Amino acid sequence: MHFHVLTLFPEMIEQGMNTSIMGRAIERGYISLKATDIRDYAANKHNKVDDTPYGGGAGMVMQAAPVYGAYEAVKEQIGYRPRVIYLTPQGSTFFTAYGGRILQKEQDLVFLCGHYEGIDERVLEEIVTDYVSIGDYVLTGGELPAMVMMDAISRLVPGVLHNEASAEFESFQGNLLEHPHYSRPEVWHEKRVPEVLLSGHHANIEKWRREQSVIRTAERRPDLLEKADLSAKEKALADRCLAEKKLAFTQEV
Ligand code: ADE
Repeated sequence: MHFHVLTLFPEMIEQGMNTSIMGRAIERGYISLKATDIRDYAANKHNKVDDTPYGGGAGMVMQAAPVYGAYEAVKEQIGYRPRVIYLTPQGSTFFTAYGGRILQKEQDLVFLCGHYEGIDERVLEEIVTDYVSIGDYVLTGGELPAMVMMDAISRLVPGVLHNEASAEFESFQGNLLEHPHYSRPEVWHEKRVPEVLLSGHHANIEKWRREQSVIRTAERRPDLLEKADLSAKEKALADRCLAEKKLAFTQEV
């Protein structure tokens, strides 16, 4: 997968993506990343890319021409009209399976990052294929959402996480949350690692982990349970947890 990001802050993208697992995935050629500076396509000597909104109001609007110029440069480089994702709180909410389908379908993916009050509608109409949000909150720009999407998509690329699990993204982790994890030491702050994990009995460990997944999902994300593939016994376990309505996992705000 080749990621292309149209942005006013290319260094933010490069610095954010060149570390840790993403950095290694780029280095090893599982994914590639090119950030294009929209400012390089400003047609004035001050490199200005924004102006006041027609009709008045607060803030500035990113102008159509430099955005279009940056898009055309990417299009020319790859030789075809790519899928272009505009990151905006007005978009459909991103989810894993959508990322997985894009990964299977596209060789190149262009992210358009807005800033200020937004981007001139006319260029959006011409180049954007998908309007995508990462959640119901408003950020100052599209760079973090683009990085969130690139991270979530890249981890589905076989090899990036040392896995071959490329077909597993039609659901969110099989619609069950992961079991808890433990590492050394065996006792920390007087808390013992669950005995079964020290037993070396793989079948029992798997059974415990699966139960923990069901319990966690019931407690923390009961909305996922409907879509999870549970045995009758697991369903009963989930129902008991739901009936207990135990813990809230966020503090009241
Ligand atoms: N730009 C600003 N806020 C955003 C959000 N929540 N999702 C995607 N793009 C955004």
